[in-house]
Amino acid sequence: MSPQNKPDRVAWLQGPAARCDEPSDVAQFPWKLVLLGAPGVGKGTQADLLNRRTRACHLSTGDVFRAAGSRPDCDQSPAMQAALGYMRRGELVPDSTVWEMIQERSECLHCTGGFILDGFPRTLGQAESLKQLMDSQGLALSAVVSYELPASEIVERLGGRRTCGKYKAVYHVTERPPKRADWCDRCEGRLFQREDDRPEAIKVRLETYERSTAPLIEFYKNLGLLVEVAAKGSPDDIFEDTLAKLESRRVREVARKVWATVEDHRSL
Ligand code: AP5
Repeated sequence: MSPQNKPDRVAWLQGPAARCDEPSDVAQFPWKLVLLGAPGVGKGTQADLLNRRTRACHLSTGDVFRAAGSRPDCDQSPAMQAALGYMRRGELVPDSTVWEMIQERSECLHCTGGFILDGFPRTLGQAESLKQLMDSQGLALSAVVSYELPASEIVERLGGRRTCGKYKAVYHVTERPPKRADWCDRCEGRLFQREDDRPEAIKVRLETYERSTAPLIEFYKNLGLLVEVAAKGSPDDIFEDTLAKLESRRVREVARKVWATVEDHRSL
């Protein structure tokens, strides 16, 4: 997909005062997804691949904070400045700040192409707030994809990561290198290394994940939404596995609804 066709997500990245140039295509079955998994497991990479195939908009909370840190036209409030400090240290931004940001952008949950939440929710409090908000707006998640990978491989992935400042495309110096070192293949923007990819911040992020975010796996399993995917192998293989599991889930859901309708008619 050319950069011109890529949804620009400005309403997500800069807040509701900005409007997306080009709304996502209207999808027949728009996916409403949450991606779960430790930092560096490959959520952003998979969200990008899913976005290109399904057109569902990639909504990353980390990207919102990084955009605010790098662009003077984005939110520069004291709460946002404090959030950037938490982020640099590898700690979670307080739920209240994150939730304020999500509420301001809740229109993005109605995106006609669907959405892929990446990096949110990250605590049980955030997950419960999201559920309440979606219930109150007549929205329901299609699935929650949980990616799993041993910590040693995660550290290697984060150390070699490079990110495009403009389109947020993600590369790896050896596993997924750009065609020209340090430059984005899609927009020819300069690639950079994230501040929180320093070893001491990585350690804090992995510990924080285990403590605060891993419990969400059980939360979404209990809601019948969890789809587990091993994050080993090439990004394309993991993507195909994700898509196959999501499609088979969709088929099962459609069959379940058809049966429920048949049973309703029988009982009349
Ligand atoms: P965020 O931006 O969400 O970062 P993260 O969750 O730590 O996840 P990453 O973006 O680091 O990793 P990823 O899983 O997306 O992996 P990627 O695809 O890049 O959050 C950053 C910070 O913001 C948080 O620490 C926190 O402070 C704050 N924050 C954000 N949301 C918050 C919230 N809801 N509540 C509180 N605080 C919040 O891949 C990694 C590397 O591996 C890349 O180089 C990639 O090319 C490579 N790679 C990917 N797949 C493969 C593969 N299959 N094989 C080999 N290499 C691969």
